[in-house]
Amino acid sequence: MLAKHGRIYNRHKPGVAHVLVTGGAGYIGSHAALRLLNDSYRVTIVDNLSRGNLGAVKVLQDLFPEPGRLQFIYADLGDAKAINKIFRENAFDVVMHFAAVAYVGESTVEPLRYYHNITSNTLLVLEAMAAHRVKTLIYSSTCATYGEPKKMPITEETEQVPINPYGKAKKMAEDIILDFSKKSDMAIMILRYFNVIGSDPEGRLGESPHPELREQGRISGACFDAARGIIPGLKVKGTDYKTADGTCVRDYIDVTDLVDAHVKALANAKSGKVGIYNVGTGKGRSVKEFVEACKKATGKDIKVEYLDRRPGDYAEVYSDPSKIMWELGWTARYTDLQESLAIAWRWQKSHLNGYGPPAAIGQ
Ligand SMILES: NC(=O)c1ccc[n+]([C@@H]2O[C@H](COP(=O)([O-])OP(=O)(O)OC[C@H]3O[C@@H](n4cnc5c(N)ncnc54)[C@H](O)[C@@H]3O)[C@@H](O)[C@H]2O)c1
Repeated sequence: MLAKHGRIYNRHKPGVAHVLVTGGAGYIGSHAALRLLNDSYRVTIVDNLSRGNLGAVKVLQDLFPEPGRLQFIYADLGDAKAINKIFRENAFDVVMHFAAVAYVGESTVEPLRYYHNITSNTLLVLEAMAAHRVKTLIYSSTCATYGEPKKMPITEETEQVPINPYGKAKKMAEDIILDFSKKSDMAIMILRYFNVIGSDPEGRLGESPHPELREQGRISGACFDAARGIIPGLKVKGTDYKTADGTCVRDYIDVTDLVDAHVKALANAKSGKVGIYNVGTGKGRSVKEFVEACKKATGKDIKVEYLDRRPGDYAEVYSDPSKIMWELGWTARYTDLQESLAIAWRWQKSHLNGYGPPAAIGQ
């Protein structure tokens, strides 16, 4: 028997698309759920909280307490029985599949975990979608599927030769989706994100990886940890790359813009068609530039230690976002690194314990 609210989610509501957001307790998924809820979609979050935060879900629940707006289901996407039950008991129109383990370094240490969590779970989600005739899929892919292309910027035509299990697992998931699409009328959009930064400009959500993942961390997290004094400083690996200042160059996309790309992808998804889009700014920024922007954004002097290159890092990666601009009418608007980092820092400063109890920071 379904609970009272279960009966709401079990039926399609005319004019209101019901979006299953997998990984909605995570960084990008929670920001996407917030945008979808603001845009009047009905949202179901499925997450096993292995990496996400129940606190993020609570923020969303407090903002949208009305029945039929948002439900959270604790489940593991690797559990086929549980997933089928969820699809049986909910009338989804769209799946935005964010849930994944997503650290390149970790994927080289635990490759099987990555193939299982990313490739095999995507297969299960797709099977459940097909069995329950869910019409639209928006898939979170990554620039890591391109590997180390010789020519920049990266277009969607750039050959995909991933060089680590994370990129390979995502590429395999893309391949499964593409093969499936040939015999299906599902509307599919595959978005290949570049490096995601920033947080909700209104300060309701932020990026809060579990503390044990700090070592795996991405550059913005490491800069903020250094600014907060949690770590002594930032270790920049490699100063002799063939780039303007010798440090690696990446394309940083603000999460608000990224989420907007999902909404535009959803609006433009067409039955029986697959759209593949890079989501980046088109502009590469060096690690040195990033650190300088972070110092200004936080007002803290971040100590930087320059070390030798880390194996497996590539010099330069940035996107050509013209396809998504022309076809979906999307452009990145938060392209000022310092501004994006200042917004994220505001949340970090007021959430020293992440989504745990609030704490104050000395200025
Ligand atoms: N953050 C980036 O820079 C970036 C860049 C490119 C692509 N991506 C992709 O975007 C997506 C979201 O990344 P993120 O940065 O928000 O990561 P995140 O770790 O913050 O969020 C992932 C969420 O998925 C959940 N999850 C993981 N495995 C699950 C499972 N088996 N069942 C249910 N839930 C599960 C986690 O608990 C977490 O809440 C991922 O698919 C990632 O590969 C991220």
